[in-house]
Amino acid sequence: MRIGILTGGGDCPGLNAVIRAVVQRAVKTYDWDVCGIRHGWRGLLVDEIDSLDLAKVSGILPRGGTILGTSRTNPFKEADGPARIRAALATHGIDALVAIGGEDTLGTANKLAQDGLPVVGVPKTIDNDVNGTDLTFGFDTALTIATEAIDRLHTTAESHDRVMVVEVMGRHAGWIALESGIAGGADLILIPEFPVAFSEVTEVVRRRHDRGKSFSIIVVAEGAHLADDGGQALHLASEKMDAFGHVRLGGIGATLAERLEEQTGFETRYTILGHIQRGGSPTAFDRVLGSRFGIAAADLIANKGFGRMVAIRGTQIVDVPLAEAVGTLKTVGPEFYELARVFSS
Ligand code: F6P
Repeated sequence: MRIGILTGGGDCPGLNAVIRAVVQRAVKTYDWDVCGIRHGWRGLLVDEIDSLDLAKVSGILPRGGTILGTSRTNPFKEADGPARIRAALATHGIDALVAIGGEDTLGTANKLAQDGLPVVGVPKTIDNDVNGTDLTFGFDTALTIATEAIDRLHTTAESHDRVMVVEVMGRHAGWIALESGIAGGADLILIPEFPVAFSEVTEVVRRRHDRGKSFSIIVVAEGAHLADDGGQALHLASEKMDAFGHVRLGGIGATLAERLEEQTGFETRYTILGHIQRGGSPTAFDRVLGSRFGIAAADLIANKGFGRMVAIRGTQIVDVPLAEAVGTLKTVGPEFYELARVFSS
């Protein structure tokens, strides 16, 4: 038996923990051969495939990124993509595939599985927006980094009597903004799911200043927009789309800061955390979750659970149909958002 592993989409801390766990389980428990497919689906299209063994995954657990490399390649946008993937698997004698990724990679895995390809999924993304699982690995690390950044911005905001706007990642889902904002004691949290009017932003800051506070912290997700911007929401860093149709977001923090200072007269600065949230070493939580997912993915293959994805529900590792994980995103619901509102009222 020979299995392949690929990592697709944006990288995320904990990917190497998953790769290592799959290899360890595959080799030690099942005596399988393992190969690593470079740069996500692209590796199968252009034949970038290497063998993986215990020595090659030794020492990678604390390392950020992915030793396999990644890309946002969409095989369904490439000429004969799915057929070329089948051919590559046959050429390399790969009997089953572990696809580690977020909505796009798992969506592709689901389509290929429906076509009969023996693939299992592992949910990854710092955004924590994959359906069917309570958590994705990478989220805890991004949250920890964003919280630490907010703590640091707090002290300088207070010293200078400034408003600080912190822009974090989160294209469609505001989990990082919401939880880092709560953990970091933000005065206002803006997320894509619940747009607020600009007047409310100024109101919250003014009320705080009226109560004698001379500084404020606002956390905003990159995909957030204001309720009164005429429905023209997204702040684009670039209109160029990737192979899955996503534009590059960024800039709402700068716009908000400029407008706030203009309207309120309070000195305002902004910080965009960007890819710092995705880089570097995973937290202990993400290393453990990634390791549990990796072991479960190898077991899923052993049980021929193709077309399924490993997931965590409560504290239990389970598996769910890939179809359940893709199509819609797991966004922030009102019960969570209400938590944040308590602190901005
Ligand atoms: O999907 C994860 C994510 O980090 C999003 O939060 C963000 O919008 C996007 O990836 C950025 O992608 P890229 O690294 O391709 O600019």
